Amino acid sequence: MRLPRSLSLFVSAAALVSAQISGNVAKLDYGTFTGLVSDDSSITYFRGIRYAEPPTGDLRFRAPISPPQTDLGSVNATEVNVPYNTTAEDALPVLVWIHGGGFQGGSPSSDPPDYLIHSSAKPLIFVSLQYRLGLFGFLAGQAVNEDGDFNAGLLDQRAAMRWVKEYIGEFGGNSSDITIFGESAGGASIYYQLIANNGDNEDLYVRAIADMHERVQETVLAEVAAEVCGHNCGGQPAVLARYPATSYIFGPCLDGTFVASRIVDAFRTATWRRCRFSSGLGWSSQLAAPWANTSMANATEATVYGFLKGQYPGLTRASFARALVRYPLAAYEGASEESSALVLQGQAMYGEARYICPAVMAGVYGREVWQYRYDNPASGSGHGSELAAIYRAEPDIPLWAIMRDFWTSFATEGRPQAKGAPGVDASVARVMFWHTFSASFSADSLSSQSNRYSRNTRMLLNPGMVVQENISGDLQRRCAFWRSLKDEMEA
Ligand SMILES: *[C@@H]1O[C@H](CO)[C@@H](O)[C@H](O)[C@H]1NC(C)=O
Ligand SMILES: *[C@@H]1O[C@H](CO)[C@@H](O)[C@H](O)[C@H]1NC(C)=O
Ligand SMILES: *[C@@H]1O[C@H](CO)[C@@H](O)[C@H](O)[C@H]1NC(C)=O
Ligand SMILES: *[C@@H]1O[C@H](CO)[C@@H](O)[C@H](O)[C@H]1NC(C)=O
Ligand SMILES: *[C@@H]1O[C@H](CO)[C@@H](O)[C@H](O)[C@H]1NC(C)=O
Ligand SMILES: *[C@@H]1O[C@H](CO)[C@@H](O)[C@H](O)[C@H]1NC(C)=O
Repeated sequence: MRLPRSLSLFVSAAALVSAQISGNVAKLDYGTFTGLVSDDSSITYFRGIRYAEPPTGDLRFRAPISPPQTDLGSVNATEVNVPYNTTAEDALPVLVWIHGGGFQGGSPSSDPPDYLIHSSAKPLIFVSLQYRLGLFGFLAGQAVNEDGDFNAGLLDQRAAMRWVKEYIGEFGGNSSDITIFGESAGGASIYYQLIANNGDNEDLYVRAIADMHERVQETVLAEVAAEVCGHNCGGQPAVLARYPATSYIFGPCLDGTFVASRIVDAFRTATWRRCRFSSGLGWSSQLAAPWANTSMANATEATVYGFLKGQYPGLTRASFARALVRYPLAAYEGASEESSALVLQGQAMYGEARYICPAVMAGVYGREVWQYRYDNPASGSGHGSELAAIYRAEPDIPLWAIMRDFWTSFATEGRPQAKGAPGVDASVARVMFWHTFSASFSADSLSSQSNRYSRNTRMLLNPGMVVQENISGDLQRRCAFWRSLKDEMEA
């Protein structure tokens, strides 16, 4: 493998900042950064601000050194995205974006903040960050244990979050009003940041949004398998070749300090709950997954097991048999014209285990948690499709405008609300609040039953309907089942 000659760690910020941050120049103690003022978008973009020493040479596979130790001089920084005409005195709310890509790929450059910034009723500053991915971010094993740091990618995110806390004031941001926000592996990152260091958030954020969090198994397997997993990383070393369908090769692992316990275990404790938390999910059970092989003519339930085991190598046959009781094949017979019962059964198990149940879990254990279900039959509601509302809605639809209202008001006001309703003129529609269970039902006699499952409610986001819905007891029980498999599934 050819290693890149240099890697850099960057943050980018944007806001409707203007020439008034002393003429789009931010002077930090380690360099002077000049932003790009765009008259077209009325946004000033500071891009590619280095927040740490390049993680190369002896710094590879180690925690980042942040901020950079040498003066960077004058830099044309064309990535913190700041609203035009923002001044350092404005102290705007800050939204920090952690991109997805399975911890292997992705980049914030495909998520331009312009839509979000312009839709926000109140101005905010948008920051995106880069972190080490794949082998560079998540190599584990004995060698790294002895001379390096685990989870360098998560530590990069942390360093960038500390950078935002320290420096965003220079860009017109309020360092006490920061929301962290991620999707997919970025959503998983949010969960890891919430539980990091046993829930010590260092006041780096007051709110968090995890869209379509995916549970990732922490086992790290590769051609370096011989060195892998010497440190509490999912048990005995295993060779990638044994699990050809595993889609995520490198990912976060239990490291004993930054990630001291499994997410499922950490969520049961109180430490992470201080923060307001929004978590969503969306998964279409009709979504095709040809790689699962469940649509092959000779597929059987063993094929479904093979697919799941490829995703979760530790999943035992006995646990799969218990899953079959909760997802009986008969329940899917004739449910769809396009897909066979086996396809639907596999999708239901995988979708709930990986994408849907983590949000449900946050509702079960959290204090202030807003949940949603994205269901857009017209354009699909598969993994990541809700980002169309946030970053690249074209052509826009009323549902997406409502979603942007929810997301941005959460960041600027601390609770999600939207003006409008599907099919209703926004100018006459009343403000719609999105409730947590305790807010919407505290007066209800139900609350006295103190059944924690009954606390789970969520917002259904559908093009024709945006309403609060209950999460069924059946789903909650299936999610409790997957949580009980946390050790096998390394979640
Ligand atoms: C920044 O960009 C401007 C315009 O492109 C250029 O004149 C200037 O020399 C650049 N400054 C640095 C430090 O690269
Ligand atoms: C920015 O400020 C200038 C001068 O105060 C004003 O003329 C201009 O309209 C403002 N631009 C925006 C987009 O608010
Ligand atoms: C900064 O945010 C905090 C927390 O939301 C708020 O109490 C404070 O008033 C804000 N500061 C300014 C100057 O708006
Ligand atoms: C099912 O059929 C495919 C080709 O259609 C074949 O590659 C595969 O080995 C078969 N699987 C089993 C379990 O027989
Ligand atoms: C799907 O079938 C192909 C061909 O038989 C096989 O190579 C692959 O490993 C199977 N994938 C899964 C997830 O079982
Ligand atoms: C949700 O459940 C509560 C308690 O059972 C009930 O009062 C309420 O009507 C339900 N809401 C919906 C939308 O079904």
